Amino acid sequence: MKTKKTRVLVLYNQVGKDEYEDLRKVDPLSLGFKTEYPIHVSTVKEEYNAIVKALRSEGFRARAVNVEENLHKLETLLHRNPPDVVFNLIEFFHDTSRLEGSVAGMYEIHRVAYTGAPPFALELCQRKGLTKQVLLANGVPTPRFRLLFHPTVPKRHGLHYPLIIKPAREDGSSGIDKESVVYDYSGLTSRLEKVFATFAPPIIVEEFIEGRELHVSILGNDPPVVLPIIEFDFSEFLPDHPTIISYAAKWDPLDEAYHRMHSMCPAKLPKRVQKKIEEIALRAYKLTGCRDYARLDIRLDKNNHPFVLEVNPNPDLTEGVSFMESAEKAGISFSETLKMIVEFALQRKPVK
Ligand SMILES: Nc1ncnc2c1ncn2[C@@H]1O[C@H](COP(=O)(O)OP(=O)(O)OP(=O)(O)O)[C@@H](O)[C@H]1O
Ligand SMILES: [Mg+2]
Repeated sequence: MKTKKTRVLVLYNQVGKDEYEDLRKVDPLSLGFKTEYPIHVSTVKEEYNAIVKALRSEGFRARAVNVEENLHKLETLLHRNPPDVVFNLIEFFHDTSRLEGSVAGMYEIHRVAYTGAPPFALELCQRKGLTKQVLLANGVPTPRFRLLFHPTVPKRHGLHYPLIIKPAREDGSSGIDKESVVYDYSGLTSRLEKVFATFAPPIIVEEFIEGRELHVSILGNDPPVVLPIIEFDFSEFLPDHPTIISYAAKWDPLDEAYHRMHSMCPAKLPKRVQKKIEEIALRAYKLTGCRDYARLDIRLDKNNHPFVLEVNPNPDLTEGVSFMESAEKAGISFSETLKMIVEFALQRKPVK
């Protein structure tokens, strides 16, 4: 007897033109610096189509739908002929990432199984300050910080320079550029003015951890498993760029920093340090309510002490990048990883 294929609905939300489409027209030779990586980055649509293709290769009946900021469309998809599972790739709604958790709440209310983190984890991790307080209260090290609601800060703030200033409720390195690291009080006050003029409070002022940067991906639930760790190499950055993953270094193929940042996997770490990192990463994953897959951004100080910078539930699943790079290093292919994530979701019973 033929068994019915599991129906997977890959949901994403994209309106307007994909910025990466314009990169097709750019001639790399016109940039005035040596490019290391292709500047023709895949568009959101191409990424999601690759996920659908991989899920089909694993035997699922998969399709991708763009909900296009349309609540009625989203509700109809969940209500009429709902899928067996939603592969949740919606990171914002009504143009704000603050509704990411509410979208997961819609799956809960419609009793549709879905992949990734529940509303609680999505909401918590978007509040970087609160997440850090939860981590600290539970013995997970994170850099010392202050959460500011006004652009004024006393000279004796108790933190040690250098400091990094970042919006507390943004992600994707938004608001992080080469001016984000400050070395004295005057640098701090002028940067705060700029950041407060652009981003809604609160703003985090945090001790800058000078040292290695690692991305630690975790897959699964019973038990969650730490995948091979990625390390970032900033050694080719020009002197005007601090050793951080700025927005430009992460996302902008037209910026030189993008081509000067490299990554390697697995990171070469002393056994004892690796064990400690894995232990705190797993603790942070569980404490923040992450599920199925997540990525933690961690820095080591000069003495190899790890500090959790932030927890990313539902991180980017682009093939060969970040989370998927780590999975592949663990010997789990792109399509196998996606299949595992779908199966984790199917094992959960939606609220009755
Ligand atoms: N305390 C710190 N010490 C050193 N570097 C830091 C610190 N905080 C942030 N950074 C640098 O800034 C980058 C972005 O910071 P963070 O990960 O907190 O923000 P994000 O916008 O949420 O990033 P993502 O793109 O991972 O979602 C980090 O990857 C790191 O390079
Ligand atoms: Mg980060």
